[in-house]
Amino acid sequence: MAHVGRAVVAGDLGGPEVLQVVEVETPAPGPGEVVVRVDAAGVNPWDWKSYAPGSGTRTPVRLGLEVAGVVQAVGPGVRWYSPGDDVVAWPVTGGYADLVTVPQHVLVRRPARLDVVPAAGLLAAGVTAAHAVAATGVDDEDVVLVHGASGGVGRMAVQLAVLRGARVVATASPAWHECLRRLGAEPVAYGPGLLDRVRTVEGTVGRVSVAIDAVGTAEALDTSAALVADRRRVATLVALDRAAGLGVLALGHGPGADPGADVRDAARSQLTALAADGSLDVLVTGTFPLEDAAAAHRRSREGHAGGKLVLTTR
Ligand SMILES: NC(=O)c1ccc[n+]([C@@H]2O[C@H](COP(=O)([O-])OP(=O)(O)OC[C@H]3O[C@@H](n4cnc5c(N)ncnc54)[C@H](OP(=O)(O)O)[C@@H]3O)[C@@H](O)[C@H]2O)c1
Repeated sequence: MAHVGRAVVAGDLGGPEVLQVVEVETPAPGPGEVVVRVDAAGVNPWDWKSYAPGSGTRTPVRLGLEVAGVVQAVGPGVRWYSPGDDVVAWPVTGGYADLVTVPQHVLVRRPARLDVVPAAGLLAAGVTAAHAVAATGVDDEDVVLVHGASGGVGRMAVQLAVLRGARVVATASPAWHECLRRLGAEPVAYGPGLLDRVRTVEGTVGRVSVAIDAVGTAEALDTSAALVADRRRVATLVALDRAAGLGVLALGHGPGADPGADVRDAARSQLTALAADGSLDVLVTGTFPLEDAAAAHRRSREGHAGGKLVLTTR
């Protein structure tokens, strides 16, 4: 049976003003599909980049890559999930909605100790950070420089690198330094003079062995390239087009980039387990009702939200 509910769409290319809340019909799930009743949906920079002028996206387009919710209905051949199960899903298409239909393989169970709002902000940033940490081979001998460490991806990369036993130097605005210290990182402010500031972090001179860039500025890339001897241990998640020229890793979706599908898929259940047992913290700095997706996007576009923004449906 089809259900009607709300969904956020970008009606045109542009800024957050093009977002609309529309009614959509969700048909009964097909083979291998699951309909999830969305309780919360994570906001990611990709959501507003996807409908920006020049993105080439065909509109109208539904938004939202990750959700936390409850299984509402399962299609033929779905063996591992039943109506009523608490789940988290990534990647999904159209997660900013009351209901979303997903293939069963993108789901993972939400442990009871992981609250629904942080769960909605865990996976997209978490799998990206897990990919970066794995691709650069972080271990307990490393000093890891993380650019954009106060953001969704950077904060996850800091925590995953610390869990691997690495020492972490983290770039962020001063307002986030105390927060990063609590995660076990040594913060430095980004901006002019970054290379010298990193070099003055005690005991790291000549020892920065890995860099993970979640910012994409020339400053982040050039500082990384100057500090890390082995360029294959520098990864950018943003400046994918500059990576080949510098000989560094480009991770994500883009020409020549490593999408890391296997690592990212495997990370889903690891991340939910770590978040449920308190080893991984998802800092949610803003929740917005679904209708206010445009306000959430305005905040995300400013680039200093300091954690995850999440939309809620009730
Ligand atoms: N390749 C992939 O697979 C993939 C996946 C997910 C995300 N991404 C990309 O990764 C980036 C980060 O995503 P996110 O979710 O972490 O975003 P976010 O939560 O909005 O974080 C943005 C970060 O950028 C920092 N920042 C802003 N302006 C800066 C500047 N001029 N110099 C240095 N740092 C600056 C912020 O620091 P302060 O707040 O401390 O100022 C904050 O840490 C986005 O571009 C996103 O599209 C890529």
